[in-house]
Amino acid sequence: MSEILRVENLKKYFPVQKSFIEVFFSKELEFIRAVDDVSFSVEEGEILSLVGESGCGKTTVGRMLVGLEEPTSGKIIFKNKDLTSLEGEERRAMHRHLQIIFQDPYASLNPKMKIGDHLIDPLLIHGLASNSEAKEIAMEMLERVGLVPADQFFNRLPYQLSGGQRQRVAIARAMVLKPEFVVADEPVSMIDVSLRAAILNLLLSFKDEYRLSMLFITHDLSVARLVGDRIAVMYLGKIVEIGDVDEVVQEPKHPYTAALLSAVPSFEKKDLRIDIKGDVANPRNPPPGCRYHPRCPFAKKECKEVEPELTGDRHRVACHFPLEIKID
Ligand SMILES: Nc1ncnc2c1ncn2[C@@H]1O[C@H](COP(=O)(O)OP(=O)(O)O)[C@@H](O)[C@H]1O
Ligand SMILES: [Mg+2]
Repeated sequence: MSEILRVENLKKYFPVQKSFIEVFFSKELEFIRAVDDVSFSVEEGEILSLVGESGCGKTTVGRMLVGLEEPTSGKIIFKNKDLTSLEGEERRAMHRHLQIIFQDPYASLNPKMKIGDHLIDPLLIHGLASNSEAKEIAMEMLERVGLVPADQFFNRLPYQLSGGQRQRVAIARAMVLKPEFVVADEPVSMIDVSLRAAILNLLLSFKDEYRLSMLFITHDLSVARLVGDRIAVMYLGKIVEIGDVDEVVQEPKHPYTAALLSAVPSFEKKDLRIDIKGDVANPRNPPPGCRYHPRCPFAKKECKEVEPELTGDRHRVACHFPLEIKID
């Protein structure tokens, strides 16, 4: 297998919006360190699940990959080209191969645009088809994602569709460009529970057909396991553990991964009862040392002072005292 995407030392710091009074009294600019030095790679045809609690920076990683957010620093190497250094036409052409499916099916479609035009527009913008060809491709794609009869859905407006149907449109819109890489950002978390499996299966059905690689973002470790080939666990802007799904799930090394696991009902093990204390800290002032230490039941002095590096070969962990447990 060859690598399709590599992210190196990616950072995104958002300037903190301050009130006039705050600005007056403090001269320093403050930042939310949403993504703080993240590196990983994805192979061709592989799905990497990115998991972590809300606010860890998962969406920001995804948005940077598809060009919706400019990195503060770092590289995004896609098909051997650094996307952060591309401009104009070259950048647009590369980004055709990188699509995103958003979490909120109600916010991701243009309320004034017909369903069919959501699929035709990208084809025309990227010069991939004539008007009549684009219409034909759009109709085929609507059928492919289960919106039948396609000619009826084609002329509808988003408000006339259910959440599940809208997410099918969003998947169709991403896939119509035959992308090589898709960021799926919690694609089913706002969908009715009864429809989640069908929508997930639809998304995954494109994997083999297009030899698609994917960054699959979720806050749910059981979904991350189901969908992914590998899992990256993110905490407060950093990857704390990454490896093959089975290794991460059966031999979690980071206490945060173990805590996420012990919260999943089907994984509930008597020997793995690690409750997470408190909430995610504020990325505006992350704790010194290991960012997880205030919540970690195993934290020692070193954890409060020295930031752990992500170390290991294929299964890597950023922890001074990695766990040694095996869950069958
Ligand atoms: N455009 C933005 N401006 C300021 N802060 C942001 C912006 N987008 C995200 N953040 C902050 O960055 C952090 C990570 O957010 P996000 O990437 O959405 O996390 P997740 O997807 O894991 O929930 C959060 O603290 C969030 O409030
Ligand atoms: Mg998010």
